[in-house]
Amino acid sequence: MRQTLVTSALPYANGHIHIGHLVEYLQTDIWVRFQKLRGNRCIYICADDTHGTAIMIRAREDGITEEELIAEMQRAHVRDFAGFDIEFDNYGSTHSDENRQLCEEIWASIRQAGLVSEQAVTQLYDADAGTFLADRFVQGTCPKCGAIEQYGDSCDRCGAHYSPAEVLNPISTLTGVTPEVRSADHLFINIERLHDFLHEWTRGGEHLQPEIANYLAGHFLHEPLKDWDVSRPAPYFGFEIPDSPGNYWYVWFDAPIGYMASTMAWCNKHGENFDDWWASEGTEIHHFIGKDITYFHTLFWPAMLKSSRYSLPTKIHIHGFLTVDGEKMSKSKGTFVQASTYLEHLDPAYLRYYYASKLTPRVDDLDLNLDEFAVKVNSDMVGNVVNLASRTAKFAAATTLADAYPDDAGLFAQAANDGDAIAEAYEACDFARAIRIILAMADRANQFIEHNAPWILAKDTAKADELRDVCTIGLNLFRQLAIYLAPVLPRLARQTGELHGKPIEHWDESKTPVLGVAVGKFEHMMRRVDRKRVDAMIAQSKEDEPAEPVAESPAAAFDDGGAALEAEPLAETCSFDDFLRVDLRVARVIAAEDVAGAKKLLKLTLGLGGGHERTVLAGIKGVYQPKELVGRLVVCVANLAPRKMKFGQSEGMIVAAGGGDKEIFLLAPDDGAKPGQRVH
Ligand code: MSP
Ligand code: ZN
Repeated sequence: MRQTLVTSALPYANGHIHIGHLVEYLQTDIWVRFQKLRGNRCIYICADDTHGTAIMIRAREDGITEEELIAEMQRAHVRDFAGFDIEFDNYGSTHSDENRQLCEEIWASIRQAGLVSEQAVTQLYDADAGTFLADRFVQGTCPKCGAIEQYGDSCDRCGAHYSPAEVLNPISTLTGVTPEVRSADHLFINIERLHDFLHEWTRGGEHLQPEIANYLAGHFLHEPLKDWDVSRPAPYFGFEIPDSPGNYWYVWFDAPIGYMASTMAWCNKHGENFDDWWASEGTEIHHFIGKDITYFHTLFWPAMLKSSRYSLPTKIHIHGFLTVDGEKMSKSKGTFVQASTYLEHLDPAYLRYYYASKLTPRVDDLDLNLDEFAVKVNSDMVGNVVNLASRTAKFAAATTLADAYPDDAGLFAQAANDGDAIAEAYEACDFARAIRIILAMADRANQFIEHNAPWILAKDTAKADELRDVCTIGLNLFRQLAIYLAPVLPRLARQTGELHGKPIEHWDESKTPVLGVAVGKFEHMMRRVDRKRVDAMIAQSKEDEPAEPVAESPAAAFDDGGAALEAEPLAETCSFDDFLRVDLRVARVIAAEDVAGAKKLLKLTLGLGGGHERTVLAGIKGVYQPKELVGRLVVCVANLAPRKMKFGQSEGMIVAAGGGDKEIFLLAPDDGAKPGQRVH
């Protein structure tokens, strides 16, 4: 029997749970329920992440203490999660005695390993508020592109990252005053000393998804790791560092330790030994997180654990971000839907099923398409899975199931057999695959029922035995579906257990039919999604309290999506024929030179194969050097009408992404493409 400890990221206590968060908590809950159903020992641990500037400021604004604020938020979080049937074994808080104790212990180990140093840090300081400003509380003009009203760490318009001290005309969003630059001593952890370990640990293949390992290798581990700033001067809501009075651990130091603290609280409640979970080779530790907090979990956290006496994670499962109808969740579009708003309008089972049907082990973003949401739930769940029960249970209702399992042409055996493939898919977090196999089973079962038409048998009393056989088959095939779907749809599984008078407790029950029992009354299991309710939810979300900005989140690591799309909305739909009118071709740059007098232009000679050539004037000077262009492949618009320009005639265009002067990215085909090939 495996022993597994599973966590989801600890949600910030400064905002409510929304449908974006739920991707993660549902993914984790499904995985945990699967482990438990398989008979493994598994606990699901989470907590609120309560420390940091954002909480302090929010409490001040509301005129309450931080403790009051986080207690209120915790109640709201717990209620929202319960509403979606997300079942934690313990839901704790980072503002707890256990967490303070563990922080002190791990800090002492890191000190002892000689990894801590003191360095002066200049930060913007708001004298009115009497506090240093986290990046998110600074607004000003982007130093790169001049966009106004940008945050202190990055620009939404051009995507540049910078330090708050570089922002032009900075103001504090707390008070509106111009912050001053102040210096204070901070404590740093030298994680470069663990470079070799981290290199090996991240590349090992078993702890991280391959795209994450590659990302870390290419973005962080290819050069020396920067020291990590883990302290903040007062005032700060958090734990004071015992050997550095007046300084507090930065929230990202104590937050992951919160995983352990919440486990410890659970152990204390249940008479368990903490070390069996966090310092034992036999226990697997699985973290589920979103891609935005990758480097905290894949670099800093393993480094902290490595420096202490505790276990490293077995695996970190990283998921992408939620988009709604292909775009970032948006307050003004009403797609920033809070969990509680969803629950006012729709059945949580819909979202559990929909996310499950789209989750894979990859880091890709997941799109909630509102049309598809309704259609998919209605056709897959209501029309296929539940339908199987409703069209057989009503005939069997007055009677009992057959004593011996009748001949079903191998359907039950085949579905029992599919159990291994489905289990493998769940284990690998490929819920989409698990669902595909389950739906195929449901299709086969429904065909069988269709063919044997119990509703016709029911009209002929002489066919009572035959009817009972068909219903016995239908309800047992349905029970198999309910078992395999139990991690996703716990309520459906419970109702199915009641229908058969036998609760679903173990995965392997899918191998044995239930026979001879009286069938319970069929209670409706899932209603069709009413698209009007979806629209009402979106409409209400436009009016909900604005969601709090997420403070102290890292500068969107591994996330480059979305910003540009918002700046330039998608063009109007065009037909496929419209698209084909543009003749895009692979071309090789044969020659490239400056154009005398032109600031931005380069003159390119493009080869289109078969001796065809084009001369194109491209506005890429300063970004690309003529020398580096010669010989490379580009994509050109080959049928663009020639244009007379000040510096000569241009016979086409090469395609590039970006817009700004310095932001031009030529598109190139993959290796092997030949000049003249059409692009479509
Ligand atoms: N407090 C930190 C985590 C500390 S873990 C030691 C935090 N909190 S959060 O509330 O901002 O996010 C909690 C989790 O939800 C994160 O894993 C985050 O990636 C995930 N998501 C938040 N918004 C999301 C989407 N829109 N889409 C998918 N997941 C998202 O980060
Ligand atoms: Zn900018």
